[in-house]
Amino acid sequence: MKLSAIAQEVRDNTGLPFTPRDAERVLAAALTSEDIWRIIDLADVPVMALCSALRAMERAGWLDFSRGRVALTPAGREVVREAGIAPALELRCGRCGGRGVELGPVAQIAEKFRKIAASRPEAIQQFDQGYVTEDSTLYRIAYLWNRGDLVGKELLVLGDDDLVSLAAALTRAPKRVVMLDIDERLVDFVRTVARQEGLEVEVLQHDLREPLPQGLLGAFDTFFCDPTESLRGFLAFAHRGLSALRGPGSAGYLGLTRREASLSKWRDIQRELLAAGAAITDLRDDFHDYVNWPYIETMRSWEHLPVKRVPGREEPWYRSALIRIELVEPARVENAPLSGDIFTDPEAATT
Ligand SMILES: [Fe+2]
Repeated sequence: MKLSAIAQEVRDNTGLPFTPRDAERVLAAALTSEDIWRIIDLADVPVMALCSALRAMERAGWLDFSRGRVALTPAGREVVREAGIAPALELRCGRCGGRGVELGPVAQIAEKFRKIAASRPEAIQQFDQGYVTEDSTLYRIAYLWNRGDLVGKELLVLGDDDLVSLAAALTRAPKRVVMLDIDERLVDFVRTVARQEGLEVEVLQHDLREPLPQGLLGAFDTFFCDPTESLRGFLAFAHRGLSALRGPGSAGYLGLTRREASLSKWRDIQRELLAAGAAITDLRDDFHDYVNWPYIETMRSWEHLPVKRVPGREEPWYRSALIRIELVEPARVENAPLSGDIFTDPEAATT
């Protein structure tokens, strides 16, 4: 049995995109670690398809889950040897965590930001929340600064469980910071902290399925969002962000993961961003590390995991890329209402 046969089996069983190269990535990760979360992290294959692949490889006699580990069998080792697969190797830069920037002036607000974040509202499943580490948020701000998208600029944050608005405002660098979120708890939290700290953050409770308020359209230099990962949900965030931008030269930042989005979905997303009038200027994979949320055991992929272990809170396996786009022509998006569930699609794993 070959990698292509495994890939075919995964596609037949799940209806999800899955290539022989994905099967290779799974085996490369399994050569590096027997831990389910490390494998999910290293493989960069969407979790739902990856679970199906692990089970297909078990049926083929390549893997054994009996000790609560993902262990290669002698037959599995033979497959790996014949296919010439090497262990997955992580060579992340130790200084910046692979993010490609220094914190620079943002380092001065780090302590204050961590103190504020310590009392943040916990992530809830209802809105597909799961926030990034405080380091990830601080590096985001440094990244915006580095690209000239922060100082003297008007910034809109769409969905803010990562507290980007507060971190940005703490630097006193932006001209204006506006944050929107559907979650009353976050809206209250940001409003209260901003008042206590004397920060200028405009806060608005808003469901992004609804059109943006007229006053926010075409009014910003920069938007930031870390969307839900369904294609429809992702584009909802991206299009709202784009409609809020002034025009050519305005920039948008988006988080996108491999954990819940195949490269097929990545391509669909990229195509839509280009069609909306933007160029993709930066893409830094694994920029964001997420703090494990309290609803791991009720997330969609849990029952599919062949080995079940609740990961520690600061044991990152969910990571996402930071994508920067810049408009090269006026945004071609409609500010139309959306209805129904924007969180779920076949690759959704954490909803
Ligand atoms: Fe570095």
